Amino acid sequence: MDYSKEFIKGLPKAELHLHLEGTLEPDLKLKLSKKNHINIGQKNIKEVKASYKFNDLTSFLKVYYPAMNVLQKESDFYALAHAYLLKAKKHNVKYCELFFDPQAHTSRGVSFKTVINGYYKAVKEAKKLGIEARLIMCFLRDMPYKSAKETYKQMLPYKDKIIAIGLDSDERNNPPEKFKDIFKQAKKDGLHITMHCDIDQIDSIKHIRTCLKDIKVERIDHGTNIVEDESLVKFAIKNKIGFTCCPVSNSFVTKDMKGKEMKYLLKKGALVTVNSDDPAYFQSYISDDMFTLASKYKLCKKEVIQLAKNSFLASFMSDKKKKAYLKLVDEYVKKH
Ligand code: ADE
Ligand code: ZN
Repeated sequence: MDYSKEFIKGLPKAELHLHLEGTLEPDLKLKLSKKNHINIGQKNIKEVKASYKFNDLTSFLKVYYPAMNVLQKESDFYALAHAYLLKAKKHNVKYCELFFDPQAHTSRGVSFKTVINGYYKAVKEAKKLGIEARLIMCFLRDMPYKSAKETYKQMLPYKDKIIAIGLDSDERNNPPEKFKDIFKQAKKDGLHITMHCDIDQIDSIKHIRTCLKDIKVERIDHGTNIVEDESLVKFAIKNKIGFTCCPVSNSFVTKDMKGKEMKYLLKKGALVTVNSDDPAYFQSYISDDMFTLASKYKLCKKEVIQLAKNSFLASFMSDKKKKAYLKLVDEYVKKH
């Protein structure tokens, strides 16, 4: 390998697939549980980590959602996002678009306002850390459409605080078309749109086709099953569709990290990016993900640099801004 882990860590990069709720590290979880008097059934870091028992998306989500009970106050949401941004800085993340799941909080009595104000405060402050941050509001696809509609309505007074709408949670029996109308509305309202097409789901390729051809998303979160249909791969490349891949996360919820598929798509010229998804649970932040993928699948330096460039190219920022960030990457490469 003609590059080191330090080289990857120092590369200016964007993170586009990061669930803020997935950055809840055991120490913060314990701290907030004490502060808010929430019994989480675990008393120390070892016990919290021992509860991380999952081997697919459904079993992961069963651990993931109950942990969120410790998030109660605006300051808790702020603390969570701020802690992630401090970590992101260490990995030289310069720009990030952060997912959050309001329904996971409003469904247990925390107001939308509490959630968005806490997260947005950290997002605004990110500038002080040298990071530009944006928020993507996700709908939980395993909740009824009616709940997504109500959430969209709650969001409208805060529309200027988010950049896009996303779709996450359990894909089983929850196809993208269930949310077609609300995504159409979001587009009309000037928001960007992206959807999860998780790895190896029932009907993965059908869902990817619906997302691309019917709903016309700008990005797909995960989405490597697209390799099953060469005509869709061509379509995605032609239309500059971003793929926010998460190799380490994949290796927790499926049998492999899907590195072969990522490398194939990258070689073809697809906008493949590498991200950490839920780093507190998979114990891997963005540079760790990039290094794990690059070393296991023997990516050359040029491919690693392309991944960093793609992270900006697949973002929802303006072309002018993208150019400025690409220049940062080039300058870094020249020096290293
Ligand atoms: N929520 C958090 N992580 C997720 C993932 N990988 N897929 C779907 N929903 C999620
Ligand atoms: Zn995700």
